[in-house]
Amino acid sequence: MNLTHLYTKLYPWWEQNHRVLPWRETRDAYRIWLSEIILQQTRVMQGMDYYLRFIERWPTVEALAAADEQEVMRAWQGLGYYSRARNLYKSAQMIVERGWAPFPTRFEDIRSLPGIGDYTAGAIAAFAYDMPYPAMDGNVYRVVARLFDIEEAFDTSAGKRLFHECIETILDRAHPGLFDAALMELGALHCTPTLTDTETGELRCLTCPLSDLCQAYAHGTAQLLPVRKPRPVLRDRYLNYTIYLTEREGTVYTLIRQRTERDIWHHLWEFPLRESENGLLPAEKGTQSIDLKHILSHQRLYARFQKKAVRELPNLPDTRVVALRDLDEYGLSRLTLIALEKLL
Ligand code: ADE
Repeated sequence: MNLTHLYTKLYPWWEQNHRVLPWRETRDAYRIWLSEIILQQTRVMQGMDYYLRFIERWPTVEALAAADEQEVMRAWQGLGYYSRARNLYKSAQMIVERGWAPFPTRFEDIRSLPGIGDYTAGAIAAFAYDMPYPAMDGNVYRVVARLFDIEEAFDTSAGKRLFHECIETILDRAHPGLFDAALMELGALHCTPTLTDTETGELRCLTCPLSDLCQAYAHGTAQLLPVRKPRPVLRDRYLNYTIYLTEREGTVYTLIRQRTERDIWHHLWEFPLRESENGLLPAEKGTQSIDLKHILSHQRLYARFQKKAVRELPNLPDTRVVALRDLDEYGLSRLTLIALEKLL
């Protein structure tokens, strides 16, 4: 790849098209770190308010380290993925304790903090200190896959290595921060997953600054990239649950059992179950039932919950009699909780 040509195309595009964002107006590593943690699982527009509130309330790593943890968690409220906030707070304390304040400057020290992986460490090192590290987020993986026409999956360890080798060959060691930001922004705004413009229907490659360097464009494969590793096949399972109900002295009782087999939901509790092979079993006449479909990472579950009022609870092996109102004291699978919500 002709690097001079690449930078000559990429940087003017950045100058004209990049979004002006508060964390891009600073070289303060603390602020850049904070923005990257917020943006790990949050969209730019939603993250903005939180970012501004955080830096106003805790303008330095020392301030954050001295904060009350509950207050930090409250300030994070609404962003979700709360382990990010816990790690943020823990990292701030580690930075102060280790004498790294205002922020660590060695890549390995940055990378060692909880919640910081290769991407985030690279982004901080490049944006704050202009150190020559790539910042490979999803957008950059997509741009690199297309530039080099990489057919290998990017989400395997071998794939990651290959993508990193490729980006190392084009990283601008004179301007790493600019390079990382520009490539990321190109992926976010122009080299998008769907390459056709939503308004005009035009192929974005036709107006891409890097099209004459792009091997996928040359080969007509851009739309097919990047490639992910194949998803595991989903196994279908059929779960027939019976919710036995009986009333005694104003209290409703039911039967539950704990899952002990080496299988999904290990140690969780559920209603008596019959698993069937090729489909759900017919519901008994006169009973109320609901059918739910539930997807786990490797299995597609078809479940039928049948409500059955009885005079006496049956004597089933390994079950326990519990009052319905005490069910929340047991760990129940999400599927069971959904069924309870809908049926009771
Ligand atoms: N997503 C992750 N980091 C970002 C950044 N610095 N600017 C915009 N979006 C981002």
